[in-house]
This record gives sequence, structure tokens and C-alpha cells, in this order.
Amino acid sequence: MSARRYLMCRPTHFAVTYRINPWMDPSAPYDTSLAIAQWTELKRIYEELGHQIELIEPVQGLPDMVFAANGATVIDGKVLTVQFRDAERADEAPAYRDWLLQAGFDVHDAKTINEGEGDILKAGDFVLAGTGFRTSHASHAEVQELFGRPVITLQLVDPRFYHLDTALAVLSHGDDGAPVNVAYLPEAFSPGSQAVLRQLFPDAVIANVADAEVLGLNAVSDGETVVLPVQATHLASELERAGYKTIGVDVSELRLAGGGPKCCTLELRS
Ligand code: ARG
Repeated sequence: MSARRYLMCRPTHFAVTYRINPWMDPSAPYDTSLAIAQWTELKRIYEELGHQIELIEPVQGLPDMVFAANGATVIDGKVLTVQFRDAERADEAPAYRDWLLQAGFDVHDAKTINEGEGDILKAGDFVLAGTGFRTSHASHAEVQELFGRPVITLQLVDPRFYHLDTALAVLSHGDDGAPVNVAYLPEAFSPGSQAVLRQLFPDAVIANVADAEVLGLNAVSDGETVVLPVQATHLASELERAGYKTIGVDVSELRLAGGGPKCCTLELRS
């Protein structure tokens, strides 16, 4: 495995004050200090695995900013900025854009709605792109043109799994010629997209609904070790059976906003 560079945002201002996905209940209690403790443990796990963590300053009034995966898509040193579907998250876009500009990336502004790595996942030489709830189909063409990599459109059909990274995880990235592989929940995709996934990834790890309901597919893999929600026990054993190491992390408090480990993690690919 090669060391990765991840951008994260401390959930200093984490809260559930609006509802833009079925997980969020603004009338239910949440615990910001527990969210911070769980996030800090996730960051520690990455550091222990040898990955480099960069931090963006959290902004007050942006309770979902912890979900750094939605901040951009970064491939080959190029950045496609994001445009959120919902007004509640709109101000996160310029915050991430500024950080990436200052970090020296080649920044390109999105022309239509896309929620970054929530829906746009690099898988080897290809890009898997979700649509149906947040990211627009039109943005997939933007992704293909900017990064010059073939984009595979995948249609999401279950509102609980509204971002591609809640329904599918890239497990191996094609480094050193190893085959690219993924884990996914078939039922989260339209019949046509299920057929595409079967064709592209005949050896995929298949998750069940119980795994997805604890956001188990919102996992981060460096090709060797998969960091996933500790509650996803069936998925963890399937991953081990497929030859991956797994580390379970408890980010249950962030799940109240509909996010897991991958949502908290934006990969910076130079
Ligand atoms: N509350 C956030 C939203 O609904 C959660 C984002 C989760 N991020 C992700 N990459 N799936 O937009």
C-alpha cells in the first residue's frame, strides 16, 4: 500500500439542525463532543496507518463541514470544485476551494451540481460517478473532460444511500497492476447500474442491507487496510475473506447526519 494524503475537518461545529437526507432528525439529540472524540480516533487510525493528514479550519454555522469528502474532487493535482444541491451546505464550497488553492492545486470551478467525492470515486484509471439524489448527471461529463478519465455513471435509487460513497467503496485502486475492486450494495443501484457493476467488478465484495444501514460502505481503503464503521460486522468479515485487513471505527454520532468515515475524508491526489 502507498501512503495517502487526506484532508479532514474537525467537527468543532457539528450539529443536526436541518434535514437534507433521511438520516438527519433535527429534533433528536446529538453530542458534539462525542462527535469530536470519534473523529479524533478516526484521524489517529489514519496516522497510525502512515497516512498524511491535512486539516481545514472548521467554519461556525456549517455543521456538515466535517464531511470533507464533499469538499472537492482531487485527481492528478487537479481540483473540480463542488456545488451543493442544498443551500444549507453552499458556503462549504468556497471554504474548500480556498484551502485547495492555497495548497497549490490547479483549481477548476464546477458548472453544475456535484458533491465531490461523495459521488465521484476514482477507481483505478476510471471514475465511478453517482447520480440520482445530489450530483447531477451533467457533471459527469465535466469530470470526464477535466480529468481525462472515463467516467461510469451509476444511478442511485434508495434515498438512504443518497451519495455513491454510502453504497459503494473502492477497495483496491489498481496500484502496482493489481485489479481494481469495490464493495457495494446491489439494491442501492438501478437494474442497469447493477449490471454495469457486475460486468466491471465480477469479484466485488457484496454488502447486505444491514451493513449499509450502519453506513458500512462508507469505508476508506488504502488497498490493504479498510477502515469502516465498527457496526458493519458482516461486511468486515466479507472483506477479511477477500484478503483485506479491516479496522472498525465508531463514528455513530456522525451517522446522525448521514455520514461515516469516508465522508470525513477527502483524498488529495497529486
Ligand atoms: N449531512 C450531510 C449531507 O446530507 C452528510 C454528508 C455525507 N457525506 C458523504 N460523503 N456521504 O449532505
